[in-house]
Amino acid sequence: MEAIYEKIRRIVEKELSCSAHDMEHVMRVYKLCMRLAENEKVDLDVLKAAALLHDIARVKEDKDKTGKVDHAVLGAEMAERILKELNFPKEKIGKVKHCILAHRFRSEIKPKTKEAKILFDADKLDVLGAIGIARAFMIAGEYNERMYADVDIEEYIKENLVGAKPDGRIKDVSKHAPNLEFETKFKHIPKKLYTKKAKEIAKERMKFMEEFFKRLKEEIEGRL
Ligand SMILES: [Fe+2]
Ligand SMILES: [Fe+2]
Repeated sequence: MEAIYEKIRRIVEKELSCSAHDMEHVMRVYKLCMRLAENEKVDLDVLKAAALLHDIARVKEDKDKTGKVDHAVLGAEMAERILKELNFPKEKIGKVKHCILAHRFRSEIKPKTKEAKILFDADKLDVLGAIGIARAFMIAGEYNERMYADVDIEEYIKENLVGAKPDGRIKDVSKHAPNLEFETKFKHIPKKLYTKKAKEIAKERMKFMEEFFKRLKEEIEGRL
């Protein structure tokens, strides 16, 4: 990594020091961004900086009790300050900010540039595949969710998700489980991606997840 990106990486690492998961996620997203950018006409300076900085305000959002801190909005502001201090090319800072602002699912700002679309896709791909499974079980452990829940999905959505919508917030986490996260959230991700290459990777990763959860069910039921 060239010197400036190494400096940015160190700043991000310091900011996320109490969350090793977040930093590891950042580096996976960075690598995926580079892969999605292969043979594409993109500004790598913008993409590299945006990938490294996209979740810099993650810990600040988690620590905030008011619920008003949006890590995409605050992250874009922090990125601007950091990049200016590092003498990052001025004309590219706005582009980096757009990528960070538009990287969230729920964000009102949708990715408009190729770099922003790649970052959005790489960030979402990180919840799919073997990584997605590993992350889902780590979260399940952290929040005391169930390991597996054999319930009717439609019923579950009505009962435990706010607004009876698949993307609604979970009311009672003790009723939630990775297989339900897969059914209600992850399955909807591939169609929301922007780039062709990410869609292909998503398809392959989804196949692996389908197989995993199918097998998990069979083992739990003593059929395998
Ligand atoms: Fe994020
Ligand atoms: Fe992220």
